[in-house]
Amino acid sequence: MSIIYHEKQKTFSLHTRKTTYQLKIGNLNYVNHLYYGARIGDEDLSYLIRRYDRGFSGNPYDSLKERTFSLDAQPQEFTSQQQGDFRISSIEVQNADGSFSFNGRYVSHRIYKGAFTLSGLPTAFARECDTVDTLEIEIEDAVTRIRVTLLYSVFEEADIIMRAARVYNGGDKEVSLKRIMSVNVDFMNGSNLDLFSLPGRYGQERQVERQPLTHHVHKIRSGRGISSHQQNPFIALVEKKANEEYGACYGFALMYSGSFLAEVELDQYDQVRLVMGVNDRLFSYGVEAGAFFDTPAVLMTYTHKGLSRMSRNYHDFFRTNLNRSKFIRDVRRPVLINTWEAAFFNFDDVKLVEIAKAAKGMGVEMIVMDDGWFGKRDDDNSGLGDWYVNEKKIKCGLTNLVEQINALGMKFGIWFEPEMVSEDSDLFRAHPDWVMEIPGRHAVRSRNQLVLDVGRKEVQDYLIESVNRILDSANIYYVKWDINRAITDLWSNVLPPERQGEVSHRYVLGLYRVMDGIIKTHPDIMFEGCAGGGGRFDPAMLTYFVQYWSSDNTKPLDNLKLHYGSSFVYPVCTMGAHVSEASPMVPLETKAAIAMCGTFGYELDATKLDEKEIIACRKMSDLYHKYYDLNFFGDYYRLADPFEQVNLVAWECVAKDRQQAIVTVITVNLTVNGPQEYIHPRGLKPDALYKVEGDGSEIVATGMALMHAGIPIPREIPEFKAFIYHLTAVDAPAQTVS
Ligand code: GLA
Repeated sequence: MSIIYHEKQKTFSLHTRKTTYQLKIGNLNYVNHLYYGARIGDEDLSYLIRRYDRGFSGNPYDSLKERTFSLDAQPQEFTSQQQGDFRISSIEVQNADGSFSFNGRYVSHRIYKGAFTLSGLPTAFARECDTVDTLEIEIEDAVTRIRVTLLYSVFEEADIIMRAARVYNGGDKEVSLKRIMSVNVDFMNGSNLDLFSLPGRYGQERQVERQPLTHHVHKIRSGRGISSHQQNPFIALVEKKANEEYGACYGFALMYSGSFLAEVELDQYDQVRLVMGVNDRLFSYGVEAGAFFDTPAVLMTYTHKGLSRMSRNYHDFFRTNLNRSKFIRDVRRPVLINTWEAAFFNFDDVKLVEIAKAAKGMGVEMIVMDDGWFGKRDDDNSGLGDWYVNEKKIKCGLTNLVEQINALGMKFGIWFEPEMVSEDSDLFRAHPDWVMEIPGRHAVRSRNQLVLDVGRKEVQDYLIESVNRILDSANIYYVKWDINRAITDLWSNVLPPERQGEVSHRYVLGLYRVMDGIIKTHPDIMFEGCAGGGGRFDPAMLTYFVQYWSSDNTKPLDNLKLHYGSSFVYPVCTMGAHVSEASPMVPLETKAAIAMCGTFGYELDATKLDEKEIIACRKMSDLYHKYYDLNFFGDYYRLADPFEQVNLVAWECVAKDRQQAIVTVITVNLTVNGPQEYIHPRGLKPDALYKVEGDGSEIVATGMALMHAGIPIPREIPEFKAFIYHLTAVDAPAQTVS
């Protein structure tokens, strides 16, 4: 059992392999947070909380004359409201009488085997081989009978704790939730922590930012209805001295694909409070008597071994506990070519077959027909919503086209953007009320398209039915599921005025239902997510998609930063990355080496490549297969930070048994006649001998030597050169004893 309840101490210790999280039923039955950090025993850590009479931080009434107990200074698992804690809160609920009070005290708990699930929201699952236990703690407001269940699933081997909260209205009147966070984590002294996040923008997703905490509320959020290009729903609190290999790191990844919020407050006493959940902006949710509301889940991890270990905790977990698709491990993902940058809207069935024929020589195994094959879609102004084949372009019909592609020995993939509608479409003409548009106003257009009210059941049913009809009409192997705008005009024509604050969250719930109805019913199809690139790349999406298109920006050097940033949470096998025609000064081999830090593919017109280029691509496709297991399932190490002034950018994937590794080095800035540069691999067996191949020279050295002394990178070479070093453990030569 990874959860120990100590009756006498009233403590709960949640143990993973390397971490312990402790909480306690504390004074006046408030639930206190006591510890999150390296694994320790079950001893009562209540001694960590000291009480002082803190001026202007009030005391709950039943503290009587005792002035030293203030919720403003108590570390808690879930905050109350209007009880003297002025920090950021877990909940804001407007009660039936109009008040905002919530005074949550412990009432009960239960511990059981397995992981919790949530209503309509994705969660991580426990495999047969995992040790997973769940703790549920109920706290209740005695006046309103609002009950909040705090959920903790402890994935012991993975060092991951999944958390969420469920609000149950035990009263007899509806209440309105204005804010409800999935987690609250209090740090008794957090002045030594930095806030780490992955901000970005369209075309430049998941860049890296690290900032000191100052005495105010730091907000990382998306209000765009999608988890967004601008912020990823992931943050970490890391010790100031933490680096790749050393130092405390706390990671928080929210499993939610809509508007989210993470707040971190460094308070007056240098305590740090972190909350994360659905964005409370433009949000309110009615919970009727006897009904409940589930928050999305947060995946927390802790390590004192630096950023690298934090990332690997997430990588290992995301590869095994989010998605049951056979394309995660059992079936290899094919090298694909996508038609978007090759042809945009300008293609027909003949052109597709030509691209496929040419691509075959490049080692490509699947062609993906991107946007433009359906409805009336010759540009991005029309057709969205009409999910039937445009027979002017696909003259032979979809089934026949796929047969022709299959006859070439290739698989076929297709693009959809289900959540959207063009005003110039049959769907819009038939159901103008299905779009999100506020009465009396015009909806915001973006890429000239409008958003369907996916929270509505009839919209969901239409999408499930129309997409499935296409999927079942031909031998489709792969789907790219796109969304190409943010969500504005929060309004649903089927909800009363007082429930319009629910629209954004209902959209996300509706989307998950649509994805369940399409993706989960097609286990033999491989699904990739996309949102104008990586605008909705989040852990919840990865429960549906085995991979996510990283960015519309296919410039290889920009991708170095994008991959680097993404790698703090997301494993290589989830990041869609293609070789394209962007950046002609970068050699094809280098583009391919960079795309191999993701799920490799091409995005160019194969018919325009010459013989030499086709052969070069073939070699790279072969290499992708050769290193597939290492890349997809190995331990990932960032070896150089592309956000710094470096001459080389490098990363490494080490096999779990450490018998092999690949180190990819890209020369980004070579000064004339400059110094010799070295790259230091990590994660090798110190005493094993490794053969290093990759630049024409051959080195045989111990892991220790390679990790500490490094690998010298050849200098007299053109810029933007890639070296892919393959390290293999070799038997040590027999030692002669003299
Ligand atoms: C988005 C995607 C692209 C492509 C286009 C098609 O921008 O990110 O890869 O599919 O849509 O319209």
